[in-house]
Amino acid sequence: MSSPRRTATITAVGKYLPEKVVTNAELEESLDTTDEWIRSRTGIHQRHMVSNGETTSDMTVAAIRNLMEKYPLDVDKIDCIIVGTVTPDMLFPSTAAIVQQKLGASNAWGFDLSAACSGFLFGLDTGTRFIESGRYEKVLVVGADAMSAVIDPSDRSTAILFGDGAGVVLLEPCEDGSEGIMDSLLRIDGSGGDYLYMIGGGSRQPATAESVAKGDHFLRQDGRAVYKAAVKGMADISAAIAQRNGLKAENIRLFIPHQANQRIIDASAERLGLAAEQVLSNVAMYANTTAGTIPLGICDAVEDKLLQPGDNVLLAAFGAGFTWGGIYIKWGHTV
Ligand code: UT7
Repeated sequence: MSSPRRTATITAVGKYLPEKVVTNAELEESLDTTDEWIRSRTGIHQRHMVSNGETTSDMTVAAIRNLMEKYPLDVDKIDCIIVGTVTPDMLFPSTAAIVQQKLGASNAWGFDLSAACSGFLFGLDTGTRFIESGRYEKVLVVGADAMSAVIDPSDRSTAILFGDGAGVVLLEPCEDGSEGIMDSLLRIDGSGGDYLYMIGGGSRQPATAESVAKGDHFLRQDGRAVYKAAVKGMADISAAIAQRNGLKAENIRLFIPHQANQRIIDASAERLGLAAEQVLSNVAMYANTTAGTIPLGICDAVEDKLLQPGDNVLLAAFGAGFTWGGIYIKWGHTV
């Protein structure tokens, strides 16, 4: 008889949102926009923003400390720290290295993973493989972004959309394979690169006085093109992963999608045939925190006691690249 498949399961979660909150009404003061437009087009009411020099690594460490308040985690036992982010503290060293040092996680290795809004999903799949292989026992997977660092505050089409925040999950083995990450379906398509990007600061356009004057260090987006691709990409992949795991709407306890726009969330949920109480939405309060949205959603679901062992949970994301994907989890015993 073959031995049971070792799976990776989420045993603990943590989150951090910066103290400073910026409401739509506050944005009305500096931009040609209205609270009504933002709410009706996106579902966003407010967002959190870093202040006083706070960085992505600071948010990450705060999220990990939040996890450690609930779950006994010896930092010396952490094997690997994966940080999904497109707003690292700096291009290098990695945010993961900075986090390792701030935590004092003396036996850990780690790296940053750049996949924009899919960064956490890609990291969760990668961490899962590390656990399944038997090589590692404790992997922290983070989604964290300080989007306010790359937003043009004078661009009303993007400045209203994003927020800052960090979420983290701890992956540990489930030796009998009865719970944890069951399946994943991940994609990239570089032809989407023209629609959502930040051109400045890399090898193609190193930072110069001219590039900064042109605003090349800010995120740029063709919102309508991304919207269309996101609705199709997230709905298709969610349906595909549900179908190949035999999940019908009534068997899905919770769908936790990337939080960019309530209309994209609704379209994906409708495609799966889900009722409102089966769909996690926190875009109203946090806006789009890029890699942060899904771990923040998972953390909120755990805090609100929405999940029980054995529940079927679907995650789905879509972002710059394009990158997108879906993950199916058989929920375990998470704090
Ligand atoms: O997470 C990464 C992936 N990103 C996304 O998933 C974002 C996807 N895109 C979206 O969510 C939506 O496209 C937006 C929320 C960005 C925009 O909504 P939309 O319904 O697609 O609006 P639009 O871009 O078609 O613009 C409609 C109008 C335009 O005016 P005209 O050309 O019709 O006169 C815009 O100039 O709304 C105008 N507009 C605004 N008006 C007030 C754009 N931004 C604003 C604003 N306030 N903040």
